[in-house]
Amino acid sequence: MSFTPHFSNNYSSPFDKDQATLSNYLEIITKHININWEINWNEKIFNGNVELKMESKKNDLNEIKLDSSFLNIKKVEIDNKIIEYSLGDRIEVMGQALTITLPKSLNKGEIVTIKITYSTTPQCTAVGWLEPNQTKSGKNPYLYSQAQAIHARSMLPCQDTPAIKSTYEAKVISERGLEVLLSGQRKNVKELNQNGKREFTYSQPVGIPSYLIAIAAGELTHKSFDNLKGRNWSTGCWTEPLNMDKAYQEFKEDTANFVKTAEDLTSPYKFGVYDILFLPESFPYGGMENSCLTFATPTIIAGDKSQVDVVAHEISHSWFGNGIGCASWSHFWLNEGWTTYLERLIMRETHGELDRQLSYTVGRRGLVGDLERLNPRFQKLVIEYKEHEDPDEGYSQVPYEKGANFLLYLERTLGGLENFIPYMKDYVRTFEGTSITTDQWREHLFHYFGQHKDGEELTRRLGKVDWDEWLHGGGPDLCVDIEYDDTLSKACYDLAAKWDKARNGDVAGFSKDDIKEFSSTQTVVFLDKLETYDTLPPKVVASLDKLYGLGSTGNAEIALRFYEIALKSGPEYAESAAKWVINKGRMKFCRPVFRLLNEQTPELAKKIFLKHANFYHPIARKMIAKDLGVKVD
Ligand code: BES
Ligand code: ZN
Repeated sequence: MSFTPHFSNNYSSPFDKDQATLSNYLEIITKHININWEINWNEKIFNGNVELKMESKKNDLNEIKLDSSFLNIKKVEIDNKIIEYSLGDRIEVMGQALTITLPKSLNKGEIVTIKITYSTTPQCTAVGWLEPNQTKSGKNPYLYSQAQAIHARSMLPCQDTPAIKSTYEAKVISERGLEVLLSGQRKNVKELNQNGKREFTYSQPVGIPSYLIAIAAGELTHKSFDNLKGRNWSTGCWTEPLNMDKAYQEFKEDTANFVKTAEDLTSPYKFGVYDILFLPESFPYGGMENSCLTFATPTIIAGDKSQVDVVAHEISHSWFGNGIGCASWSHFWLNEGWTTYLERLIMRETHGELDRQLSYTVGRRGLVGDLERLNPRFQKLVIEYKEHEDPDEGYSQVPYEKGANFLLYLERTLGGLENFIPYMKDYVRTFEGTSITTDQWREHLFHYFGQHKDGEELTRRLGKVDWDEWLHGGGPDLCVDIEYDDTLSKACYDLAAKWDKARNGDVAGFSKDDIKEFSSTQTVVFLDKLETYDTLPPKVVASLDKLYGLGSTGNAEIALRFYEIALKSGPEYAESAAKWVINKGRMKFCRPVFRLLNEQTPELAKKIFLKHANFYHPIARKMIAKDLGVKVD
């Protein structure tokens, strides 16, 4: 018997309904969005309109509520007729509900197209605008957006919830010969005048949630990677011209292979294009899975391919997140946990099972570190957001690592990869293109294994899983102690223990060769372990730096761990940490370093941040300011 998922709006828990949208998305849904923007580089705004094609889900629908944040709404029309609307009071973080009164009520299944003429404002939280001196060539301005979780509403009025997926098309005009990229497939570029004014047309024919709408513009070039024959998709990268060679070398081989491996593990890639855009240093994340166009921090171009896992991660979102979505941010772990799980299976194909185990080891330390400092509400896999609470507040390693560990635990419980990969394929086949809750995921899991040839035994095992603890439990660690093979981590742990014993300052027994054979991940594991011991005396930290060159490494993952150890030890490394952090826009790096700097040398932390506040993307700027207890405008 085949599984019929029930896609109902009768959610079983209040958190299944998105608490972070002001839209009435259960009553009417967006099917297609048409974007028309002209970029105004001087005023740092987009000017234009959007058309939302929407379908009513009920009879007698009289109004449409949309999300908006810091938008300047000018006009609302249906069929070229001006329509009444009102903009509600601003609710902190959520923005303002844009309520549109329909001239004629809609019945279930009826379609309406709303045209909204508006402009964004300089307060837009999604878009970072860079001055020419913040780019590689120094010659041109640059802009890029980051919409996840709820910043799309500061670019366009929309139903800003992961529950709703729609296709989109965009026409964007830019000047000065600057390239425009969007999270879809490029259809056309039209010259509008002799001075480099051009119109870019993009289309996203696969339904996507609003948080995947993305734009970047600036001095950019494209190059195709090594692609595979006989596929209906291609991979490549976009960078500022001066970054192209390094970026291309680093990712030209792996990218298409990763997509292919992911396809083998799940289903065919359906977005046609998989390009990576390498952004300037201020990009606040490692990577962002914008459809057709992953956005990535340039810090992953490490020179030794040590951070290609970030690309494996973003590719994996094509199935988990962009393929199967979460119905609300409470179920965000379905995106990130599954993606992290698949990312590690992709890496396993090239680096082997031991490497996969090592990734879980690194991830576990990150998880435990976060659990130690997190509010108990955010320690849960399924987060119970309050009404109008900012989902960015719940961002942590929990959905990633608790999620991936839960799936690893289920994989082990249900007979290993031999059973779990076919199950994963069925999961993708069943829900691809929809947005679901944790209950829907679990229902399908039980159904699938119930039909399995060993169904009776596997169902019995599923019955013994502590669902409540996994999904709704908190505490300082996982509820089941999951162990990982320590073949690759043992030497790292031994070296850390040896340093711990040398805290009296006798470092004669160490040499730079200690870590010569380590992969960069092993060096990370070594430093993570060392950090779990009592704070080291500054003298020992200095020896560590001198011997292994940690303070001057180009590998940001290693540098982060080193500065964490150093800043806990004393103020000696405060100046160099401050110097390191001022061009690290990725929040994974800048937030912990600023937080520790603030504990060790609060004046320096605040001074440095305020001096460089404009470097950071608005999202990071707000978070760091909050961490440091300072105000920025
Ligand atoms: N989708 C996330 C980034 C994100 C999550 C942005 C929530 C805003 C809100 C992306 O796929 C991600 O997980 N990035 C990681 C990459 C890493 C896990 C390999 C990052 O930026 O660190
Ligand atoms: Zn992710």
